[in-house]
Amino acid sequence: MNRLFCLALTLLITTCLLHGQNRIGTGGALKLYEQHCASCHGKELEGGLGGPLVGDNWDYAKDYDGMAEYIAKGNPEMGMPGFGETISAPDIRSLVIFIREMNAKAEAAEQAKAESHNGVFKTEVESFRVEKVVGGLSIPWSVAFMPDGQLLIAERGGDLRFAKDGKLAKPVKGTPEVWAHGQGGLLEVALHPDYKENGWIYLGFSEKGDEQQGGRGEGITKIVRGKIKNNRWTDEEVIFEVPPKFHNGAGVHFGTRFVFQDGYLYFSIGDRGRQNMAQDITRPNGKIHRIYDDGRIPKDNPFYNEPDAYQSIWTYGNRNPQGLDTHPVTGDIWEAEHGPRGGDEINLIKKGINYGWPVITYGMNYNGTPITDKTHAPGMEQPVLYWVPSIAVCGIDFYDGDKFPNWKNNLFAGGLASKELHRLVIEDDKITKDEIVLKGLGRVRDVASGPDGYLYLVLNGPDEIVRLEPVK
Ligand code: HEC
Repeated sequence: MNRLFCLALTLLITTCLLHGQNRIGTGGALKLYEQHCASCHGKELEGGLGGPLVGDNWDYAKDYDGMAEYIAKGNPEMGMPGFGETISAPDIRSLVIFIREMNAKAEAAEQAKAESHNGVFKTEVESFRVEKVVGGLSIPWSVAFMPDGQLLIAERGGDLRFAKDGKLAKPVKGTPEVWAHGQGGLLEVALHPDYKENGWIYLGFSEKGDEQQGGRGEGITKIVRGKIKNNRWTDEEVIFEVPPKFHNGAGVHFGTRFVFQDGYLYFSIGDRGRQNMAQDITRPNGKIHRIYDDGRIPKDNPFYNEPDAYQSIWTYGNRNPQGLDTHPVTGDIWEAEHGPRGGDEINLIKKGINYGWPVITYGMNYNGTPITDKTHAPGMEQPVLYWVPSIAVCGIDFYDGDKFPNWKNNLFAGGLASKELHRLVIEDDKITKDEIVLKGLGRVRDVASGPDGYLYLVLNGPDEIVRLEPVK
């Protein structure tokens, strides 16, 4: 080829890449993406339940063909559905192109996002500024407040770290090994309500079982308590663990949030990707549990005397409860349940109740196929609130501080894919308002009302902890 021809060809290809592909890429592909992928990978492809599809950092989808094949086959055990049966091969191809286009646009979007950090957010009844408390984290999942003002942060990979004045300490040595797999890992840290007297710190994590399943690990929620001396984890006691026969290899739906109340520890375990097991009271997954805070099982638990029942069960039919907190006035336990597509729920948790998953739900499968047409059934509880589309609800917290008087006792719920913070007003056990007070800062993994009266958010992407401070 002569040089001129070469140049002309290059120009032609470049022009095609910049403009021509829009004919295939946007419109149809955008709709397909919004319909099938955005619920997990985020509207801007920035990630949510699934990883980010921007940033050109691929684990599986190394090239165009590799990506198309991966999308068709999926990796169901890790939470990526296969779309080969629901989306035609040409449409999958245009999705791949769309993803590549969005990679190019992502950089500009990053800059736009950063700007909202410094602004004042005016909402219905309070105005606030968002201040970064500590950054440089690796997928933080939970935060606890030490009496001396330090934060204690759990990172999904297994590290537990103190932070003070924006500085992050080295990980606490000797914490338990966790099964950091998909959504599993170190998921919860909390101080015992009498921490000042007894020094107990509780950790919830995905335990790696001894047995292997086809060469993969397998895991489920385990709870230990221990103390920290000289940045070392000591005096560990096992509070809750599940026999190996109930472990499974899926990388999804671990739940694992705590509430302490009146000497009890309530906690959640997701359905572990085995949805029908949520209805089976002989199994621990898909449930809220109640034990004493030393690990003993209360004899007045609802299924304690049922043959073969898992005795710590408090409620069942729960999909993936990633938020749990006590109402500061009524003392009731409220739960956020990460639902299927279009089925996120807020529930009021009551002894022995069946919350219906997967027999009833407002959602459908992520690949667009139905789960059921039933939203109600006798003997199954309705959610207090459900979101269509889903916000990918995660951590929740009742605000009980003094810095935002007009938010007192409101329930705050974080969204992952939606990157939203919702303020829910509750009157007589009904949600009378759902206000989005913040959007677009990052995926909101957890919300925590600090002892200093500020409202703290655990963000993923950027992996940092921020707090809302009032502006008068
Ligand atoms: C139910 C949630 C969910 C939905 C819906 C979903 N994905 Fe995924 N996706 C995931 C998860 C989780 C992973 C990571 C899986 C793993 O670790 O093996 C993933 C991985 C991927 C990857 C590989 C990324 C890499 O690093 O190589 C691509 C590409 C991808 N998804 C594209 C899509 C497309 C396109 C759609 C829509 C047609 C889609 N996904 C819908 C959850 C989802």
